[in-house]
Amino acid sequence: MDILTFDVLDSTNNYLKEFYQKMENLSVVVAKTQTKGRGRSDRTFLSNKGGAYFSILLKPPFNFAAHELTPLAAVAVKKGIKEATKIDTKIKWVNDLIYNDKKVCGILCEAISKQNKIEAIIIGIGININRPKNGFEEFEDIATSLYKRGGKIRKIIEAVLDNFLEIYLNKEDFFVEYKDSLITIGKKVKIQKNNKVGKAIDLAKDFSLVVEYLDGEKERINVGEIVVKS
Ligand code: BTN
Repeated sequence: MDILTFDVLDSTNNYLKEFYQKMENLSVVVAKTQTKGRGRSDRTFLSNKGGAYFSILLKPPFNFAAHELTPLAAVAVKKGIKEATKIDTKIKWVNDLIYNDKKVCGILCEAISKQNKIEAIIIGIGININRPKNGFEEFEDIATSLYKRGGKIRKIIEAVLDNFLEIYLNKEDFFVEYKDSLITIGKKVKIQKNNKVGKAIDLAKDFSLVVEYLDGEKERINVGEIVVKS
């Protein structure tokens, strides 16, 4: 696994998008800070010094289907954090890791397709390890870090990568681990695509979330996002 480290990048996902053709399967790019860290739905991912911001490049043939890679990465991050720090985190469907009820990690999986064929998949992972000097700014209410200071960034990145490789290369089944780590099941959720409120009742085998609406109708949600209501 080649690991390229930069002090600053706009976004490690953008870097791989630009250079993936010349890079090998399973290359990793790490940035100590990002000036344009991106989250899902075009949101900003605050990427000040103190966190782990890295992306993994996957090239065909892929060992998993594209929709399995975000949950796979979530399990790898959870296990990596536990091994490196002893800290237990939970997963909020589909791509957030939660610590003390706040978000401590986000995952952004992007596919590059040409003529309907996936040429590469980029898995971007951002973990808040140490608290930024100026806090989490507009995200203060929803974001947290594993440590105030002193958390070892490289050690955590390496533990996450080890766990990712273990599952990815051995095609390990991680469904039960993912499901058991979810905080979402049993919670009231709001589905963004239709603004409806319901209850998350199960995780389907394809990692879609089974939601039951107030009128008893059930639906599987596999795209878009939910807001967990407490
Ligand atoms: C989210 O929370 O919606 C996903 C956040 C993903 C952030 C990571 S940091 C490394 C990689 N580069 C980016 O620009 N984004 C991802």
